[in-house]
Amino acid sequence: EKARFTLDPTFTIGEVDPRLFGSFVEHLGRCVYTGIYEPDHDTADAAGLRQDVLDLVKELGVTTIRYPGGNFVSGYKWEDSVGPAEDRPRRLDLAWRSTETNRFGLSEYIAFLKKLGPQAEPMMAVNLGTRGVAEALELQEYANHPSGTALSDLRVAHGDKDPFAIRMWCLGNEMDGPWQTGHKTAEEYGRVAAETARAMRQIDPGLELVACGSSGQSMETFAEWEATVLAETYDLVDHISLHAYYEPHDGDVDSFLASAVDMESFIENVVATCDHIGARLKSKKKINLSFDEWNVWYLSRTQEEAERNPLDWPEAPRLLEDNYNVTDAVVFGSLLIALLRHADRVTIACLAQLVNVIAPIMTEPGGPAWRQTTFFPFSQASRYGRGQVLDVRVDSPTYETAKYGETDLLHATAVRAEDGSVTVFAVNRSRTDALPLEVALGSLGLATVVEHSVLSDTDPDARNTLTEPERVTPHPATGTTLHDGTLTTPLEPLSWNVIRLV
Ligand code: AHR
Repeated sequence: EKARFTLDPTFTIGEVDPRLFGSFVEHLGRCVYTGIYEPDHDTADAAGLRQDVLDLVKELGVTTIRYPGGNFVSGYKWEDSVGPAEDRPRRLDLAWRSTETNRFGLSEYIAFLKKLGPQAEPMMAVNLGTRGVAEALELQEYANHPSGTALSDLRVAHGDKDPFAIRMWCLGNEMDGPWQTGHKTAEEYGRVAAETARAMRQIDPGLELVACGSSGQSMETFAEWEATVLAETYDLVDHISLHAYYEPHDGDVDSFLASAVDMESFIENVVATCDHIGARLKSKKKINLSFDEWNVWYLSRTQEEAERNPLDWPEAPRLLEDNYNVTDAVVFGSLLIALLRHADRVTIACLAQLVNVIAPIMTEPGGPAWRQTTFFPFSQASRYGRGQVLDVRVDSPTYETAKYGETDLLHATAVRAEDGSVTVFAVNRSRTDALPLEVALGSLGLATVVEHSVLSDTDPDARNTLTEPERVTPHPATGTTLHDGTLTTPLEPLSWNVIRLV
């Protein structure tokens, strides 16, 4: 049985916002320390940034980078992280039971982004866990005000003459989660988020603000949380956040492969909730979605480890260092497809996280840096997933999953670039069989397959490691043809595919 769909240049979903290819650096484990920052490393520059990691981050094609957390931000004192590094205090990080040295801070984060180039926009979170409106305003003044006030002059005195020009701000992190320091009810959070947003806009009306949505669709307060928070903040914020992590439960790989079904329903449910509040308020404004944490994460393993071995405040411990296999990369690719398929409303997304911590890039302290399997779908989607997302409605054979019932074997999207070229991103969820795919290209005027790259392996558990860093890489597919406006290809079992057409 074949899978099919038709592409038409007039049927589009929306333009991809480059910020869809964002990532996330939290002060957590070794994401910062011995991840992006390791002053003693052979490749470190004068600022202590590892050049081998910077090169891989550039290759990954990351745009905006969210910082400094995550759960960490709910105890964050921004003033600890500025000024001469040797004077900065060591602090308890309650979120990860670690010691924060503050050797890397706000100025270093901005310097890191600058090294990545102009597409790397900051996305800074303020602490609405242990702190509130006043501290958010102080941070904004320090970071963004040119000079002539106590805090802007302090930044200049610290060596940063130019303001950091941070446009995007997250109003706290996962405030719906009982694990969050300073966790709040929706009413409590809605009020503080609204007042923080209002005050921050008094300094600069041009900010883009993200209110915290739910930390997962399965949260008991999901949807009611969004509705309550938005009722308070609708006119004051631009985005609401979504977070989702997926892993196989009880060895149920078939359901795991269908994780994007959950991600797409999560997005659609949040859109519906936003629009419901908009309708109630008789507002013409639309709230967009910031999917600012998403990934495959073996969270249950992390939780078991934490129970077995509670941390005694170490510095930069090895935490959440998941090593991804081919199956994980296929699911990960499917999550990217889900985001692209909703590019009309998901305008920011951050892969959580960037280095070492559930990350596409791994490092060894004093040693090399390498790409995990998940690196490849991200870098390819970031490179070729720019332009108009075409409306893809698949007619696909299905399979049965315990979690989501009957599910399409094919998950796909397509993006048309400004020059008229089209890239098809497709996942075959079958673990055993190739999936013949036929795409009718209608009036797109495409004649040539430039490349069909596939990530698959005879061993679905194959992975890249310190000793074998290039065990898994994408390879050219065989059997893909384009004749008379029809693309035909046999998608390999359990595969992520990038098919570029001109
Ligand atoms: O990304 C890891 C953690 O997951 C973040 O700190 C938190 O926001 C989420 O629960």
